[in-house]
Amino acid sequence: MLRSSILSVAAAFATLLISPSARAETPFLWGTSTAAYQVEGGWQADGKGLSNWDVYTNQVKVVQSVSGRPETGNVADDFYDRPRYLGDIQLMKKLGTNAFRFSIAWSRIFPHGTGTPDEAGLKHYSQFIDDLRANGIEPVVTIYHWDMPQALADKGGWANPDSVRWYALYADTLFREFGSRVKTFITVNEPFVDLFMIQPAVQSVVKRDPSVGLLTTRNYSRQAIAAHHILLASATAIRDYHAQKLDGRVGITLNFTPTIPEQGDDPADRKAAAMEDEAQNRWFLDAIYKGRYPPDVLQAYQAANPEFQPSAADMKLISDNPPDFLGANYYSPAYVRADPNAALGANWLSTNPDKVPSFNGPVRPEYLTELLLRFRDQYGNPPVLVTENGAGFGERDEQVAGDIVRDPLRADYIRRHVEAMLKARQEGANVQGYFLWSLLDNFEWTAGYGKRFGIVRVDFDTQKRTLKESFFGYRKLIADHPDGR
Ligand code: BGC
Repeated sequence: MLRSSILSVAAAFATLLISPSARAETPFLWGTSTAAYQVEGGWQADGKGLSNWDVYTNQVKVVQSVSGRPETGNVADDFYDRPRYLGDIQLMKKLGTNAFRFSIAWSRIFPHGTGTPDEAGLKHYSQFIDDLRANGIEPVVTIYHWDMPQALADKGGWANPDSVRWYALYADTLFREFGSRVKTFITVNEPFVDLFMIQPAVQSVVKRDPSVGLLTTRNYSRQAIAAHHILLASATAIRDYHAQKLDGRVGITLNFTPTIPEQGDDPADRKAAAMEDEAQNRWFLDAIYKGRYPPDVLQAYQAANPEFQPSAADMKLISDNPPDFLGANYYSPAYVRADPNAALGANWLSTNPDKVPSFNGPVRPEYLTELLLRFRDQYGNPPVLVTENGAGFGERDEQVAGDIVRDPLRADYIRRHVEAMLKARQEGANVQGYFLWSLLDNFEWTAGYGKRFGIVRVDFDTQKRTLKESFFGYRKLIADHPDGR
């Protein structure tokens, strides 16, 4: 107890000393967060190429509504349309946010994966960036948020070592085109969820082979090779960005799931929770900040797949090029129990004791504080942006009442998590921004339109926007804490 308070006072002091000028110049970022495929629509507009998600949804039809209707991102929130997004930018202003995190659709910039960048694609994002800035909203650009040109997916996607090169070309193009106006780039979003959760589920349908989707150590160990390529791609882009000496920063966004042993006094559950912590939280962090993968999971992957042999040179590239900031996505912790049939012997997906469960796991704001303090204590207190945090509880928390939607559970979730983040800041965690997921209800990947996360309701038939109670709740939090204090 005493030790931790001494550490926190020291860390708070160190934070003040590190870069007083940078802190004074950069305001605390209050934002909302989104991703291209989930909102844009315009799937064939202006010469855009097909992406893997266009194919999954239109050709393989991996996503279906409760009534069995195939769902796609072909229209989504129609956010590709300028008049439409200009209206949404007005909502960001009304909310009081000063930043917006969005991703760029790789298939608009390189419709065929490689070659020369597409002018129309570049022009679209250039205009969007200008429109945000003209409205006082700082653009925060995610380079890769799960959608890639189908031409590259056909060549194996991230499993192909060439993916490092494909991605570096794409990232470099964005740095050159937008680097003078975009001050914050994010290389990739949540490689764990993309590669270890969503892709196996999708690929089992694509390949008509349910065994591909099983969460087994063997499947994880195959995906670890793809995840390694993502880390190499991210490090290469960070290196290239720094070589251009642009006046800005580049980070990486990871998902974090603090692991809680289901039976705290059961050694088997504790071991399983530690294993899951290595797989989900430490895997990427340790590689980036310590230059090595955590030992128990590495051993388990190599036992299951001797092909996975990351070289010392690779690990050096990753740790020699750390991100300028860590993007942290936090939704919930996981209760973990030992289970010999689960990947790595750890079942982390079954238990949620909450009365009204949120889609993304148990609501536990205190673990957000703990997580941010963990970065402070175990990873050298890097600058952190909370790049996603949010919730959806289903239709009972989406009650349309005239011109407002009542979503008290989401509003309460946001308030408690913002407070948890502010508490970590007070204790010296170097958090420099908070981005809520999400401004608009949108296409929730394999769950389609069935799971709403927005603080603005979208009627997907008419594109009508209706503000929710949580919109006003978040607006008040921002107004009460403009500089994040
Ligand atoms: C992803 C988002 C997703 C959100 C809500 C995150 O894992 O980055 O794309 O919509 O969670 O589930």
